[in-house]
Amino acid sequence: QDPRLAGIASAIRVIPDFPKAGIMFQDITTLLLDVKAFRDTIDLFVDRYKDKGISVVAGIEARGFIFGPPIALAIGAKFVPLRKPKKLPGEVISEEYSLEYGTDKIEMHVGAVEAGERALIVDDLIATGGTLNAAIRLLGMWISFNPFVLLTFTISSIYQGRDRLGDKPLFVLVQSSVDAHDHH
Ligand code: PRP
Ligand code: MG
Repeated sequence: QDPRLAGIASAIRVIPDFPKAGIMFQDITTLLLDVKAFRDTIDLFVDRYKDKGISVVAGIEARGFIFGPPIALAIGAKFVPLRKPKKLPGEVISEEYSLEYGTDKIEMHVGAVEAGERALIVDDLIATGGTLNAAIRLLGMWISFNPFVLLTFTISSIYQGRDRLGDKPLFVLVQSSVDAHDHH
């Protein structure tokens, strides 16, 4: 195991009962305060995915917007924001996904990617996998024949997010330190 991973894992702060009782919030803002851990995080993704023919990094609002752009610049790919509803001014396509209560949507601009491109989707965490699956469907409308690579920092076992992603290629940088009952 890469020696940098322990420093990254320990820089992610866990806050119990936020935003509500029973949820162990994985706070990556403390990782951003640790210059070495932040740089190591970006470097590990870049080392893994440079020279893989990736032309687009798609970041999921909001935390995918923090980690996606430095990775995109370093591997020479464009950056495409996948946004929450009604934020993008141009023509959009939307994908709905389930939340604990109700549904939400993410949107991307039409024309941001072209058929034949290879995309890397970046987010900070998988709980149920609903958000990431919606992002895959969104990009999948345009990019049919190339594999997706999905990045995340922490993954919780209790929500079956990994199972719900099927055999999609998934790279998890660090496992959650509170995997028994964590979320977000
Ligand atoms: C969090 C997290 C992931 C998503 C994971 O985002 O950053 O994007 O939830 O949950 P899921 O696997 O059950 O879909 P959230 O929308 O809560 O807030 P953010 O805007 O701060 O990223
Ligand atoms: Mg998010």
